[in-house]
Amino acid sequence: MTQTDAEIVCCGHICLDVIPRMTGSDLPPPGGLAEVGPADLATGGSVSNTGLALHKMGIKTRLVGAVGDDMFGQAVRQRFEAHGPGLSAGVQVVTDQPTSYTVVVSPPGSDRRFLHCPGVNATLTDADIGDNALAGAKHMHFGYPPAMKAICTDQGKPLRRLFERAQNAGLTTSLDMCGVDPHGWAGRVDWPALLRNVLPHVDVFLPSLDELAAMTTPDPAALLALGCDVLVIKDGENGLRIHTSQDAERFGPKWGNRVLKATTFDVEVVGTTGAGDTTIAGFLAGLVRGATLEDAADLACAAGAQCVQSADATSGIDTLDTLRAFIANKPHRRTP
Ligand SMILES: Nc1ncnc2c1ncn2[C@@H]1O[C@H](COP(=O)(O)OP(=O)(O)OP(=O)(O)O)[C@@H](O)[C@H]1O
Ligand SMILES: [Mg+2]
Repeated sequence: MTQTDAEIVCCGHICLDVIPRMTGSDLPPPGGLAEVGPADLATGGSVSNTGLALHKMGIKTRLVGAVGDDMFGQAVRQRFEAHGPGLSAGVQVVTDQPTSYTVVVSPPGSDRRFLHCPGVNATLTDADIGDNALAGAKHMHFGYPPAMKAICTDQGKPLRRLFERAQNAGLTTSLDMCGVDPHGWAGRVDWPALLRNVLPHVDVFLPSLDELAAMTTPDPAALLALGCDVLVIKDGENGLRIHTSQDAERFGPKWGNRVLKATTFDVEVVGTTGAGDTTIAGFLAGLVRGATLEDAADLACAAGAQCVQSADATSGIDTLDTLRAFIANKPHRRTP
């Protein structure tokens, strides 16, 4: 584990996406075969998408999570190292669990299908994230509990313990969600109870509107009353709705008691993979660098706009200065 100071520690879900390039639109029948092109490999999950975006923006970032002791795990760690030497140092290699992966079956002209293996993300819990993973950092971000079974057990007590420990160590904290599979274990979690347990130790909560609606009544005042100070609701091409409590004032002047809408920038959309995660990266970059709430919201939307202009999550992401220059040019905003 690297001990170098990090501004932001990104913890949580890590996986490898295996994406065969498909030209034909038909899937083979049982017993059949379909010829496909070479597979694209991409690291995915919150740690990869938000963490690598922050790294590319020039924020000192530590990536924390786990992979299995297998070739997919080696591929994930190699990819992280290719982005920056040492970036894989916080990724544990676990011997008795496979690396989480997703096979993305995406034939032209039809909806994507995912074959997902939860792997080691299903067993990772607060005890696996040591104090050294948080040491020296300003902020901890955690992503995708609904895809991580162990950390959600007991109405999220392990997740609560992790957030509590981060806050006690002096870090500010944030939480991102992902879709809840209604047919799997996540569909049986008492999400309102989990949020009641965890949000008192979350400073910035950044779910998407759909994810929130699948878990609880998306009432901003009620969520702020549970204890988070900044609620950033992502709503796809409609942009962001931000609500803050009085306590958010500690992030800077005029952060407290605010309701703010930020519309997306009108760019050509190539693909929305990772749009939510990179949007979060823009917001957190602003937060740790002392931006105003308006600037953090603009940085979030600008990062989302950079993301959607390429097919994958992070190749469009550039430095914080480039994001600021993009905003300074006053690009056209979409009317919701
Ligand atoms: N078509 C678009 N044009 C510009 N920006 C977009 C577009 N779609 C998404 N974004 C940006 O990405 C942000 C997050 O999108 P979304 O609400 O889909 O998050 P999410 O559901 O968490 O996404 P993800 O599936 O990537 O995790 C939006 O608020 C916006 O800033
Ligand atoms: Mg998301």
